Amino acid sequence: MRLTVLSTIFLATTSLSAGSALAAGELNLICAADVVICEQMKGDFEKAHDIKVNMVRMSSGEAYAKIRAEARNPKTDLWWAGTGDPHLQAASEGLTEEYKSPMLDQLQDWAKSQAESSGFKTVGVYAGALGWGYNTDIFKQKGYKEPVCWADLLAPELKGEIQIANPNSSGTAYTALASLVQIMGEDKAFEYLKALNANISQYTKSGSAPVKAAARGETGLGIVFMHDAVAQTAEGFPVKSIAPCEGTGYEIGSMSIVKRARNMENAKTWYDWSLKPEVQSRMKDAKSFQLPSNKSAEIPKEAPRFEDIKLIDYDFKTFGDPEKRKALLERWERDIGAVAN
Ligand code: F6P
Repeated sequence: MRLTVLSTIFLATTSLSAGSALAAGELNLICAADVVICEQMKGDFEKAHDIKVNMVRMSSGEAYAKIRAEARNPKTDLWWAGTGDPHLQAASEGLTEEYKSPMLDQLQDWAKSQAESSGFKTVGVYAGALGWGYNTDIFKQKGYKEPVCWADLLAPELKGEIQIANPNSSGTAYTALASLVQIMGEDKAFEYLKALNANISQYTKSGSAPVKAAARGETGLGIVFMHDAVAQTAEGFPVKSIAPCEGTGYEIGSMSIVKRARNMENAKTWYDWSLKPEVQSRMKDAKSFQLPSNKSAEIPKEAPRFEDIKLIDYDFKTFGDPEKRKALLERWERDIGAVAN
């Protein structure tokens, strides 16, 4: 009897410790996409793994700044999503870990080349083109002409009707800045941005906020990734998305493991998991309509297709380079941020 009790206690203790050995612990995650997809990814991952995810949502530029500030004592393990330029900058600065996921072969070329060009310190998770979304009710009521080109956004009638994010915090706005520099040349792009400033009512922190404001009638138009405009239309708001006639840039939304991450194995588990087709195919359920990086993932029917958009040959290497990004952001702060209304 005594033996049985003892052995029961022994069994209970060993299975408990076996259980906690199996409990793979925690993952400290920065999610730099929309909060709805961030929550969905966290929930799905926790259901599939015995790992608790401590998630913070941030815009791309803020995520980069946090990883950089924590470099000596990393508190983040994995940085999922957000535009690729700051991920590339972090890779060049040695802030992120080289990792060759077994999933790499399943990815689109643009996602793989993001990995290759960074020495496998980041990888593409989705892509999406830049454009804008405007509130069709407001435009109709006020008799504004549909803006289909970057040049149309300078129309004096649009004074105070446009929002875009601040490129220091937002990857969307940095993509806009870098795209305009590639389309017009740097000096012309800054002249354009100065002229556009007359029509801007607010520089928001997050990249998608401008089109959410347009959807709710708080502003006429938001310069955003087209998939963020389409998401508002899918929510039932009177928003039309536009791909600019002169051409436009795009993002390769990326993912990086932080160098010396405390939960390195868990970070790799998320990394491989989030590149799976079934995980990426579910992104549309959170109205996240980017183009997925896994070739077998379902492309949402709402996703703006690259074939239908006049895309520039966005130079990720140059515009994700630390010196270039820093110089452009400083010039933006001097020429635009300092005089912004
Ligand atoms: O809302 C989703 C999204 O547009 C992503 O496609 C993109 O990577 C991210 O947000 C950029 O956000 P931000 O401009 O706030 O850095």
